[in-house]
Amino acid sequence: MSGFSVSWLDLREPADHAARDPALAASLVSYLQADTAISPIIVDLGSGTGSTLRALTRKGAQRCVWRLVDHDPALLNEALRRHGQTEIIEDYQADLREVAALPLGGLTLLSASALFDLVSDELVDALLARVSQQSAAFYAALNYDGRTQWTPAHPLDEAVLAAFNHDQRRDKGLGPALGPDSAPYLKAALEKLDFTVHTADSAWQLGPAQEALQADLITGIRLAVADAPDLTEAALDDWQAFRMAHAGSGQCVVGHIDVLAFPAGA
Ligand SMILES: C[S@@+](CC[C@H](N)C(=O)[O-])C[C@H]1O[C@@H](n2cnc3c(N)ncnc32)[C@H](O)[C@@H]1O
Repeated sequence: MSGFSVSWLDLREPADHAARDPALAASLVSYLQADTAISPIIVDLGSGTGSTLRALTRKGAQRCVWRLVDHDPALLNEALRRHGQTEIIEDYQADLREVAALPLGGLTLLSASALFDLVSDELVDALLARVSQQSAAFYAALNYDGRTQWTPAHPLDEAVLAAFNHDQRRDKGLGPALGPDSAPYLKAALEKLDFTVHTADSAWQLGPAQEALQADLITGIRLAVADAPDLTEAALDDWQAFRMAHAGSGQCVVGHIDVLAFPAGA
C-alpha cells in the first residue's frame, strides 16, 4: 500500500473529528470508564499518528493503555512524539495481514479509523474471530460508504463517482477492499458473532473552510479514475478544473459510517 504521510493525516483530521458520531463516541467512552479500577487496553489498528487516541481522550477516555499498531514507523514515532509524555503508549510496528501475530492479548477494545474500507472481507473475519474470543468491544470510525456529493453539480459527477467507487474496491495492500461495503459487512459479521452493533452517519461536511482538503480530494479522485474506460482525459480535465474552481466556495459531502459493537453480556 502506498504510504500515508503525516501531513495528509493532519489535513483530514479536523474533518474526521468533526464527523465522528458524538453519541457513539460518548457511549464507548462510558463503557471504557465504567470500571475505575481497571486500565482499558485499546488496540488501535492502522493507528497513524494517533487520531483515535486524540478523539477518545478529548471525549474523556482516561487511564487507557494505547497499543498503536501500524506498519509505518514514521507514523508511530510521530504518535509517540505527540503523546508519549501524557498517555501510556505501546507502539507496535506490524503488518495487519499477519492477524495471528497482532498484539491483541487482554484487549478491552479493538479500534480503527479510516481503515476498514481498505480491508478485505477475509481480513475482517480473521480479526473479528480474534476479538470475539476475548469479549472485547469493537469501534471502527469513518468507513467510506460510497457517497460523494458536490455542490455546485457538474454533469460528470455521477460517472466520476461510479468510477471512484469501483477503484475503492481495488486491493490496496490489505486484500480486495470492501470499499463502500465495509460498514454493512462489519455490522453483519459482528451480529453473526452475537455483538450488539450500533452504526451512525459520520459524513465529512466540507465547505470553503476545508478548501485544501477539497482540493486534495479532487486530485486524489482524478488520479483514482484516470484509467476508467468510459471517461476521456479531456472530460476529466474539465471535471477537475470545474471542481478546483469551486473548492473555495462550494460544498462537498463525503459519506462515512461509524460502527460500534459491544460483546454479548456487556
Ligand atoms: C487512512 S490511514 C488512517 C490512519 C489513522 N487511523 C487516522 O484515522 O488518521 C490508514 C493507516 O493504516 C496503516 N496501514 C495500511 N496498511 C497497513 C498494513 N498492512 N499494516 C499495518 N498498517 C497499515 C497506514 O500506515 C495508515 O496509518
